Amino acid sequence: MNKKIAVIGAGNVGATTAMYLAEANFADVVLVDIVEGMPVGKGLDLTQAGPVRGYNAMITGTNKYSDIKGSDIVIMTAGLPRKPGMSREDLLNMNADIVGSAAKNIKKYAPKSTVIVVSNPLDLMTYHMRHVTGFPKNRVLGQAGVLDSIRFRAFIAMELNVAMTDTQAMVLGGHGDTMVPLPRYTTVAGIPIGELIPKDRIKAICQRTAVGGGEIVKLLKTGSAYYAPAAASVDMCRAIFNDEKKLLPASAYLTGQYGIKDIYIGVPVVLGANGVEKILELKLNKGELGSLQKSAKTYKEHLKIMGY
Ligand code: LAC
Repeated sequence: MNKKIAVIGAGNVGATTAMYLAEANFADVVLVDIVEGMPVGKGLDLTQAGPVRGYNAMITGTNKYSDIKGSDIVIMTAGLPRKPGMSREDLLNMNADIVGSAAKNIKKYAPKSTVIVVSNPLDLMTYHMRHVTGFPKNRVLGQAGVLDSIRFRAFIAMELNVAMTDTQAMVLGGHGDTMVPLPRYTTVAGIPIGELIPKDRIKAICQRTAVGGGEIVKLLKTGSAYYAPAAASVDMCRAIFNDEKKLLPASAYLTGQYGIKDIYIGVPVVLGANGVEKILELKLNKGELGSLQKSAKTYKEHLKIMGY
């Protein structure tokens, strides 16, 4: 294949992302990890599934960053996951080092790539990635809104016993407890959920969405979710590769939209070949805008702790 995607980190999120990418069949995949042998083994294993899973992509595992040379997209998944009871922000210091060192290598070996950050705390790590690579803001974005909105969609489908694929949802804000699910912009086949689900149930579903990652951490006991995070990342990759101009929520760099600037946070964007091609400013009501700005404020404080 003539397109190449690098996945940094061959843990659960990275390896599952590589698997979904292979099945999507649009690029070869390079899977990078510092653990000796492991990414190479996972790459071989995934490649060998190709004949019966119906893909021709080569999945190459490696310990060498130089192998990401020429990658069109880099998906950054490396980092420690949460343990039960931890917030994503508790991972700040450990993961900032990991993301910082990956960013230097991405800058060196894949200077033309678009980078999708998945490592937590997501919005802060995306900011850090952009700062260290120095890439234009449209080429660095964070995957969280798609994950949070597919969680929201799945819960709505479960509530109403309707097709998952008929649901659409919008979740803004940071990928953490301050995220802002927007029921007003959430529909089933075009019908606002307010017409289908009682208010108290919508509230409960929004709340479950906001702590959706934590619910899984608690159940798994070691590590965090990976199927849905990987699926969300591949959805974003496809939008970039196929220049889909897909409207989805993602962590993007704001320069005054929603009264917020110099921060990465979840907002609706149009995703295409040039990465974040547009940021949409919805007409939020006072409560929605207040929640988004409150979410941004907490991340501003964390950025200060990081020295920004
Ligand atoms: C989650 C983690 C991966 O939300 O952030 O599941």
